Amino acid sequence: MSEITTYQYYVGGKFVNSTSGNLIDIECPYEDRVIGRVQAISKEEADAAIAATKSAQIAWADTDLFKRAELLNKWADQLEIDAKDIAQIIMQEVGKTWNDALKEVTRTADFIRYTVQEFIHTNDSSMSGENYPGGSKNKFAIIKRIPLGTILAISPFNYPVNLSVAKLAPALISGNAVVFKPATQGAISAVKIIESFDKVGFPADVLQLITGKGSDIGDYVSEHEGIDMISFTGGATTGRHLSSFSTMKPMVLELGGKDPAIVCADADIDKAVAEIMSGAYSYSGQRCTAIKRVLVNDAVADDLVARLKTEVEALTVGMPIDNPVIVPLINKGSADYVADLIADTIAVGADLLVGNKREGNLIYPTLFDHVTTDMRLAWEEPFGPVLPIIRVASDEEAIKIANASEYGLQASVFSENFSRAVAIAGKIEAGSVQINGRTERGPDHFPFLGVKNSGMGVHGIAKTIDAMTREKLIVVNL
Ligand code: G3H
Repeated sequence: MSEITTYQYYVGGKFVNSTSGNLIDIECPYEDRVIGRVQAISKEEADAAIAATKSAQIAWADTDLFKRAELLNKWADQLEIDAKDIAQIIMQEVGKTWNDALKEVTRTADFIRYTVQEFIHTNDSSMSGENYPGGSKNKFAIIKRIPLGTILAISPFNYPVNLSVAKLAPALISGNAVVFKPATQGAISAVKIIESFDKVGFPADVLQLITGKGSDIGDYVSEHEGIDMISFTGGATTGRHLSSFSTMKPMVLELGGKDPAIVCADADIDKAVAEIMSGAYSYSGQRCTAIKRVLVNDAVADDLVARLKTEVEALTVGMPIDNPVIVPLINKGSADYVADLIADTIAVGADLLVGNKREGNLIYPTLFDHVTTDMRLAWEEPFGPVLPIIRVASDEEAIKIANASEYGLQASVFSENFSRAVAIAGKIEAGSVQINGRTERGPDHFPFLGVKNSGMGVHGIAKTIDAMTREKLIVVNL
């Protein structure tokens, strides 16, 4: 038996043990073993970590931009050097395939480099008083973007590297300090990226990695008066709860979704099938942007369903190291939830076309036809490999069902008639609508947002920088 590694949290530019003596076991999603332990820090340690960012942030914001840029670019390089080591942990900790885990690290290095360039090209602006009626050319404003202070970055399990750095890099380049609280399952991946961060020589206390159960320190740090802004990605229930702390504290929330793929009567069915398959089943549907329902016009439903069934039957299923499409879900609770949703959908009379098989946390890809709007699966977000097909008589019916969801993250519209697709896209209540493509966040410089229970505020490199900075006017009166 190999020894289980205990990982430390990061404060004051050093990895340290919590004095609480409490550790959290991180279990592998697909093997019955603990892959490591992380520190469960105390509230006092969280206080100290936050307090130490204050003077560090002032010095950091005062550091030459090109010095900050150089350090961030070095971090991107270091992540690539350490990519295999990090990918190994991503795979073991969150069950992502080896190829996807490696891709996540590369995507993240690209993200950092683009973020640096984006900020470098953000210039201060100015306005003259004479451009307003009765104003004077002797009055002008220099409008600067300045950091908010200490950003609390809370990241989810499913992209433990990319969705963490998507908060950390914009915060740091714009002169903020960061308190980084990763999802517990994902915390070892977080330690790994901070090991890379530590190697390149950032000043102490500009970034603190705190680990612990959300139920113990989550609310405490979110409400903390030393936190100036919160950037959160995760479940809608936690997001709604966090939003109750948003009084006078800026917050950006990226939450869940029930993204529909609307397939019109004139869709290119080959294209729709390929995009729906990749959108719905990659990483076993554990993406907030996964396609989670298909709304297909009756005229093409039989054809689409037959082709989807063939494709779902052919999906590769297995362990992450073998790079299948379908991998075990993150934990037993998630697998239980998805299995229950499948059982309920069978019980209420939908047609099970493929699936309904489970081995531990591995839920085989499942496809249902003739799901109706009185069924739970029409509305709930499984975060698993189960896709309902809802047949509709018209575009209007598809739009109505799409918009009846509590969520509004993204949607796809498949049609060969561009005017029709754009008209439908205009009526869908979602942050983004993809025409003839799968729902997805990338490329990472696009704005990314959800409406209704899917989020608040906007992510995406330039938008995240905006959210983590504010304008400051210096008004000169001659
Ligand atoms: O899970 C939520 C992610 O933001 C989805 O990102 O579309 O790149 O898979 P993705």
